[in-house]
Amino acid sequence: MKTRSASLLLALLILASGNALSQTSGNPVTDLLLSAWSPRNYTTLPVTDQQIDMILQCGIKAPSSRNGQPWHFTVLKNEAVMKEIIPNITPGNVIIVISGKLSQAGTTPDFDCGLTTQNMFVAATSMGLGARIYGGPIAAAREKREALQIPEGFTPVIMLRVGNFEKGTDAVSGASPRKAKEEVVNWVK
Ligand SMILES: Cc1cc2nc3c(=O)[nH]c(=O)nc-3n(C[C@H](O)[C@H](O)[C@H](O)COP(=O)(O)O)c2cc1C
Repeated sequence: MKTRSASLLLALLILASGNALSQTSGNPVTDLLLSAWSPRNYTTLPVTDQQIDMILQCGIKAPSSRNGQPWHFTVLKNEAVMKEIIPNITPGNVIIVISGKLSQAGTTPDFDCGLTTQNMFVAATSMGLGARIYGGPIAAAREKREALQIPEGFTPVIMLRVGNFEKGTDAVSGASPRKAKEEVVNWVK
């Protein structure tokens, strides 16, 4: 009997601890946010232009400071060009380079580029695609600014890799662990 109570208590504690699965509520947006993760390995099934178009629309819809929309999107599909930026890219993947407008006082291009990137990450994930944000190799994209035909006055800030991936991994085993709520949240009531 004692063991049963202990198990029940443990189950309640796990539920209350706020892990990703315990917070799913049937709300498709929160469910998606809590189950999203960033695959590293992709299949060669090509991402379609229609899928990229929808992802871009969702990126363009992102909020930005004073609605300045200080961003430009460059869609890379050429495998050789993509490999010069992300060497382990898989054929069929697409890289979206998000460039920000060079800063003027009172504008927040890097922050706004982050918001549009996250919108596109979530959109791609919701469409059953994998997506991973890349900042590490951004220097390679900056060096290629002219070859990538990025307009004058914009510089690459961040990239989003989009591809198809083998399904079957869930957020608990696939996602990188997050810090505990207690570590990163304080309330002032
Ligand atoms: C600004 C930024 C830069 C990132 N740069 C890289 C990168 O260069 N290479 C990489 O493999 N992942 C990169 N990531 C992906 C993160 O490592 C990933 O989002 C994080 O580990 C969470 O993974 P999960 O979504 O699978 O839980 C970047 C993410 C962000 C937000």
